[in-house]
Amino acid sequence: MRTITWDTGAQGLIYINQTRLPAERATVETHSVTRLADGIRQLEVRGAPALGVAGGYGVVLSCLSHRKEVAGQAFRDAVEMDAEYLRATRPTAVNLGWGIDRVLQTAMREETPAAACDAALREAQAIEAEDITLCHRIGEYGAALLPDTCTVLTHCNAGALACVEWGTALGVIRSAVEAGKRVSVLSCETRPLNQGSRLTAYELQADGIPVKTIPDSAAAHLMRRGMIDAVVVGADRITPDAVFNKVGTYMHAICAHHHSIPFYVAAPYSTLDTSGTEADVTIEERARDELAVCGGRQLMPDGVGTVNPAFDATPLSLVTAIITDRGVFRYPYGELTGMYSKDRT
Ligand code: MRU
Repeated sequence: MRTITWDTGAQGLIYINQTRLPAERATVETHSVTRLADGIRQLEVRGAPALGVAGGYGVVLSCLSHRKEVAGQAFRDAVEMDAEYLRATRPTAVNLGWGIDRVLQTAMREETPAAACDAALREAQAIEAEDITLCHRIGEYGAALLPDTCTVLTHCNAGALACVEWGTALGVIRSAVEAGKRVSVLSCETRPLNQGSRLTAYELQADGIPVKTIPDSAAAHLMRRGMIDAVVVGADRITPDAVFNKVGTYMHAICAHHHSIPFYVAAPYSTLDTSGTEADVTIEERARDELAVCGGRQLMPDGVGTVNPAFDATPLSLVTAIITDRGVFRYPYGELTGMYSKDRT
């Protein structure tokens, strides 16, 4: 099954509940914007491209839920309010707002709520289908960069579970394996929510790709020992000066640079944001309990506070190449950001 898709019969959104993996492969089916927003906040559905698809379908859910209640400007206002509510759930991943805006703008061009619902659904389904194509393109471009036999370090989960299928960073690995390369993966556990040990390890094992989990803090040691040939990660937002990705990514980039190991970022073009720079981006701060409690067990004394940023920013000078669906870009990345501005005007 896909990570996220539309159930045409039930007129609802269905996605894999990633908080339950790897122990249980459960799905969530929802018809409610509020339920979807809760699911996004809790990381039931997560990863930049999957959030883009979820945001798009969130607008569809909103259109459907308001179509019978109100028409005209009241319908528009209600859907726009839902869109803002969804957008606020996770501030760093640019694809969430991108997916919401793309479907919202399409829907708002229509005269009636019924037409808006149909147009919104078509657009959200287009985003879903495009994601699969784009990830395969990223995979093919990226696979060419990897040696025939190599060990790749990845952080967090930028795989099928973070997209619709295939994945970005893991798409590069899948495409390389498909092309006959012998790739094994070291998956950083990615504390505190363990997207690496729970999700990356799960999906690579299911595909028969050799994978081992390492503590996040072991990466530098393994690089020093010559056990890592390349780092491939995804991105939540790429500004003209930095790549935002799961916290810890910056640390890996510094270590890779120090050891002359290529550090690749794989992301769809929609992850680019040239509207500002690193300083303009809000880094999501997550709840204390993610650090203080694990499996119901208290890990910290009461009263001790936390600093728990979900993402960090890696300066582009530390990134060997950015692999997109439109090709591979290298420092200083002017061509990448310039192309993006041109396309947007
Ligand atoms: O907090 P998460 O799990 O949504 O963070 C996800 C990541 O940082 C991924 O690496 C990123 O979204 C790229 S997914 C292709």
